Formats: sequence, structure tokens, C-alpha cells
Amino acid sequence: MSKYQSVRGTRDLLPEIKQVFRHIDETAYKTARNYGFKEIETPIFEFSEVFHRSLGETSDAVSKETYTFTDRGGDSITLRPEGTAGVVRSFVSEGLAQHIPLKLYYYGPMFRYERPQKGRYRQFYQFGAETLGLESPLADVECLDLAWAIIKNLKLSERCTLEINTLGDMESRNAYRAALVGYLTPFKEQLSHDSKLRLEKNPMRILDSKDENDKKIVMDAPLMQNYLNQTSQKFFDDVLAGLTKLGIPYVINSKLVRGLDYYCHTVFEFTTTELGAQSAILSGGRYDGLVEILGGPKTSGVGWAAGVDRLAELCGPSLDTNPQPPISVVANGENALTEALKIASSLRNQNKYCEIFMSGNFKKKLEKANKLGTEKAILVFEQENGGFEYKLKNFKTGEELTNSLEKILYQVSSS
Ligand code: HAM
Repeated sequence: MSKYQSVRGTRDLLPEIKQVFRHIDETAYKTARNYGFKEIETPIFEFSEVFHRSLGETSDAVSKETYTFTDRGGDSITLRPEGTAGVVRSFVSEGLAQHIPLKLYYYGPMFRYERPQKGRYRQFYQFGAETLGLESPLADVECLDLAWAIIKNLKLSERCTLEINTLGDMESRNAYRAALVGYLTPFKEQLSHDSKLRLEKNPMRILDSKDENDKKIVMDAPLMQNYLNQTSQKFFDDVLAGLTKLGIPYVINSKLVRGLDYYCHTVFEFTTTELGAQSAILSGGRYDGLVEILGGPKTSGVGWAAGVDRLAELCGPSLDTNPQPPISVVANGENALTEALKIASSLRNQNKYCEIFMSGNFKKKLEKANKLGTEKAILVFEQENGGFEYKLKNFKTGEELTNSLEKILYQVSSS
């Protein structure tokens, strides 16, 4: 075994699983395009400040999980733990505010120093969608409709649930926060270490603590829905009415708060029961203050990101992403192999999926072609005069017919 292994929490996406990732990205990208989203790619590292300011100092992603280093120029750099902050930084630094509303799609690796387990990696992949510059709750509905369409196109709709909640606007959140702190303070000594710290800095995160004792304590905590002002209540009602109108099923989860600090109003997660503790496969919400936090003009934002590693786990490696069988070109002899390579090249240049076999004897090559599901193969035989004989083999019937190369190429290309 090699002395070098991949770093803990990272993995090689070998061809069998990589093809599933690609299928997921392609499906998501095609669907997003139908919804008018355009693709953007931002760097995988940013100045650390970008994440500290946007995700919040107290979020786990920033306080415990970042890959941060000082580069040779002395700048503090962080590998992106998520995509929204970079997209919003780009929105501000590229002056995109004049083009709102903007609908953006992205795909790429993210990095979080989390404890690795099934469905949780230190380098993982997200695709995401962000709508910038639309205040209407219908923008939230369109975003959720896109997420639901992708999940349906991946044939996963039966296997996940949309959980949704509202955090309200600042006024509602402040009122709720005060009520929550009032309720939790008498339990302070019984709370877990993390929750004790959060009680002062970010008490709403205690609602989604995984600690069993914390869970018991928050069971009777006041509910956000009782602290919403009229504007926030209407916003949430409009989102829910939109979902109902579009036939998107949801459940309200009043304990759903999300781990990043930039959210307001709508928050949601598509969850599954099939991946153990890592149940969220796609999550997001509204972040109306974020553009301003990063120095841009007041601009609304709403979006989500999906965990591709988790979606791939659900789709499974057996997903048939290339149902087309190859045309195989099978050579008998060294010179015939060069000729076969030339034939394969011309077919591939006509956009045909074509396989050629460079090792093994003729019989072995035919066996390999058969194993790949080949229906038609071009057989190339060397002749004593230096020329070649060509046959078209039909794997279904076993029939082999000698013909000119031209005619054989015509037959395989037109089928
Ligand atoms: P998030 O909930 O932190 O939100 O991550 C989104 C999704 O990424 C999760 O639902 C999960 O499927 C996947 N994920 C997160 N961490 C890991 C990990 N360590 N290993 C594998 N998968 C993981 C965000 O990142 C926000 N930027 C989403 C958003 C976009 N909100 C508004 N716009």
C-alpha cells in the first residue's frame, strides 16, 4: 500500500462515482437554465474577511471549520466553506448591482474542517442558485420550485421532504431572541458547552442543537411564529401560498434555524431519512442584508445550495449515465491496430462513442467489446499483401459480414 493517502475527509472521485457527480451537475445546470439562471464561477479562496463578515464569527463554519492560512504576501486567505459569500462578494466588487435582478447558478468544491463521517467531508461539492435583487416572496417560491424541479429530475422527490420556517425580519427576530433568552437563561447550567456559549452570542442556534439534553430543554421553548410582526407573517404566508399553488409539498419546522448568520425570513432544507445524521441534501433561505454587509447597495437575496456528495449517495453508483452502447473497433494484428485507431478516430470525430482495445489477443478483445454492451463492431484483419479486410460483426446475432470499409462505416454511422 502506498505511504501516501488522501487527506482525512477528502476522497478521490473514481470514475464510477464521478460520472454520478457529473450527471447531477448536468441535470441541475440544464434545469437551472430553463429557469433563467446563468452560471457563475468564483475563486475557491477569498480574503478571510469575506467569510468572517458574511457567515458570522459565531457560525460553526467560521469559528471552527475554516481552512485559513497566511499567503506569501501576508494576506489571510480562507478556502471557501460555501458559495454564497463569494457570489455576493463578486456581485459587489464587479458592480453587478446595475444588472439586477440577477439569477446565478454555481457548482464546485467547498472546504470545511468538520468531523468526517458518511455524507460529511472536508472537501465536498455544492451546486447552488442565488437570486439577487428581488424583494418579492415569489422569488423564494421560484427558487424553491427550481430546487424541487432538480430533485424531481434526479428522481429523488419520493425520498425527501421540504422543511420550511421563517426567521422573520430584524424586528421580529429581536423580539423572539429576547423571549428565547428569557426562557433559556434559567436552564443555563444544564445546557451543553456549545449552547452555553451560544446563549449570549447566537441563542437561536440552540434550537437545532444535536445534544439530547439541549433538545429536551428547547422542546418547550417559545416559537418564532408567535413573535412575527405583520410584515413577516405576510411574507411567510405568501411563500407558503406560492408553494401550494405550484403543488410543492412542504412541512413547517418551527425549530429550523440554519447554521449561517446571514438569513432572514424564509429558511428551508430538503431532508432525507436515508443518510443518517447528515439528513440535509439541499438548504438555503433569504439573506436580504448580506450585500450591504459586504459593502454593496441594499439588495435582497435568496438562494440555496445542494450537497452533491449526498445526492450522489442517494442516486447510487449504479446510475446509468451513458446508456448508449459503444461501437467497438477490434483489430487482429499490430498493423491492423493502427488502422483500427484511424477508424475509431474518424467515428469519434463524428461524435460517436467508440471503443478500441490495445491489449490482449483477438478473442480477448471481442470478449471485452461484448462486456461493454457493444451491438456492432468493426473487425480489422491484416492481409498478406499489406492491405486490410473489414467485417461488420453483429453481437446480437453473431453474424460477421465482409464489406468495404466505406460501406461498413456508412452502416454503423447511420444506425
Ligand atoms: P449549508 O446548509 O451550509 O448552506 O450547505 C448546503 C448543503 O451542502 C447542505 O444541505 C449539505 O447537503 C451540503 N453540505 C454542507 N456541509 C457538507 C459537508 N461537510 N459534506 C458534504 N456535504 C455538505 C450553505 O452552504 C448556504 N451557502 C446555502 C445558501 C445559498 N443559502 C442561500 N444561498
